[in-house]
Amino acid sequence: MPRQTLELQNKVVLLTGASEGIGAALARVLQFRGARVALVARSEKKLKELARQEDLVVVADLSVQADRMKAVADTISCFGRIDVLINNAGVGVYDKTIAVPLQPVRKMFEVNFFAPLELCQLAVPYMPRGSMIVNVSSIGGKVILPWATLYSATKYALNALTEGLRVELHPRCIHVLGVYPGHVRTGFQQHIVHGRAVEDLSPFRNRLAISAEECARLILRAMERRARTLVVPRLYWFAVWCAHLFPGALEARLRRMMQGIDNSES
Ligand SMILES: NC(=O)c1ccc[n+]([C@@H]2O[C@H](COP(=O)([O-])OP(=O)(O)OC[C@H]3O[C@@H](n4cnc5c(N)ncnc54)[C@H](OP(=O)(O)O)[C@@H]3O)[C@@H](O)[C@H]2O)c1
Repeated sequence: MPRQTLELQNKVVLLTGASEGIGAALARVLQFRGARVALVARSEKKLKELARQEDLVVVADLSVQADRMKAVADTISCFGRIDVLINNAGVGVYDKTIAVPLQPVRKMFEVNFFAPLELCQLAVPYMPRGSMIVNVSSIGGKVILPWATLYSATKYALNALTEGLRVELHPRCIHVLGVYPGHVRTGFQQHIVHGRAVEDLSPFRNRLAISAEECARLILRAMERRARTLVVPRLYWFAVWCAHLFPGALEARLRRMMQGIDNSES
């Protein structure tokens, strides 16, 4: 039997990280499809610029538990239910694992893992049958990125949450979609909470980069089709399969990339 597609007209979507990058682009395509969107992030000004009359702005720092509760409570008191929860907000830490201070790592885990976990716990009781959770992970949640090992760790944890919840929530008819973007041109690298972003990792990676708008369009299509997993761009499936089938070869390639980074820093 063909899977039912998701119709977004008049659906209530709680979207985190909506103020810029992939989240802002997602907000626009959701609005275009007629969804009512609860826009969640810390930057009130940017959220207000994005919101239409039928949307809701929730200013919240998702590393803070009380703010996560407020995000769900405000959405429920405004709309009465949540049809789609999109856990998109995320931050990075780029540093050597053995030297990195733990405080920014804890903050990153709060935003990238504990916020999606708690938002799922808080939202699911208000999600009707046929609703959906979308977790925006990273290709770093399928293949370790050794220049940001602990960022990868947050996304591997999110990956486990996504795959486990999909099975756990099946009896409630709540679908769970995992999104694994490669390189998307946003301000993400400028917003890392600790360390220094690595530019020019490889010319190939830069050639594969896509815009936030393209990423949002592909996420929307995957949502409408109720896909399980979205890897964007699709060519990154090659890295995912290499990690499974030829882990030694992939490690050798990553070691060479790390040498390039170390040489450029010294
Ligand atoms: N860009 C890429 O190449 C790439 C690749 C793979 C995966 N991803 C993932 O895609 C998602 C979106 O990233 P992006 O590229 O769009 O990054 P971005 O442009 O830096 O946007 C990040 C969003 O998260 C919000 N955010 C950050 N910390 C927050 C906090 N403590 N509380 C509430 N909101 C917070 C930001 O809003 P405020 O600052 O206003 O709070 C912003 O709206 C992330 O999960 C990221 O890991 C990105």
